[in-house]
Amino acid sequence: RDREVIAKDLLEWYDRHARTLPWRVPPGGGTADPYRVWLSEVMLQQTTVAAVKGYFLRFTALWPRVEDLAGAEDAEVMAEWAGLGYYARARNLLACARAVTARGGFPDTLEGLAALPGIGPYTSAAIAAIAFDRAETVVDGNVERVISRLFAIETPLPASRPQIRALAQSVTPATRPGDFAQAMMDLGATICTPRSPACAICPLNAPCKARTLGLAADLPRKAPK
Ligand code: ADE
Repeated sequence: RDREVIAKDLLEWYDRHARTLPWRVPPGGGTADPYRVWLSEVMLQQTTVAAVKGYFLRFTALWPRVEDLAGAEDAEVMAEWAGLGYYARARNLLACARAVTARGGFPDTLEGLAALPGIGPYTSAAIAAIAFDRAETVVDGNVERVISRLFAIETPLPASRPQIRALAQSVTPATRPGDFAQAMMDLGATICTPRSPACAICPLNAPCKARTLGLAADLPRKAPK
């Protein structure tokens, strides 16, 4: 099936080209520590990968386990967060660390994760897939762009979101869903970029409908504000 070939080709590309990031394990290296996955995903909400790296390394040096962060002083955590912005995220971060510590560790299901403070649908799916190998579909802005192009979705955002999610689900593989999610993010960040996508070197250029139609750089369309 076409959809299986898409996942296979993308994972093969990821095995060779994954970005080395401090919260990742190498491709195929199994599941990552849920604490590190959670911390990175919360920091990466509305902040770039480049900006997050240093914060992530300082936080994990100061507080290597979720129990350590749960026991920190609020003021110390807020001081280390300074510069990342959106301070409600830091308050939720502490509330979540304390809730996880009180229950004896991270829940390993989408529903359990989504019930924690500050964890929305995106973050719960990312942790379930990356840390617990659950076949959940992770849709961020990068993934919206990749899927819009792969299937030449001409309906503008945000009306196209349900269709994008369904198509993203249809290409998510049962094996290595966490690597697949991160491969989609890396493809969107490095090749399937908003302007001037590098279609010539894209591992998905053969099945990409937008590329065939000469539309890649024009998608996703966005409804006027
Ligand atoms: N953006 C959000 N989560 C990410 C991840 N795990 N890897 C790269 N970019 C991301």
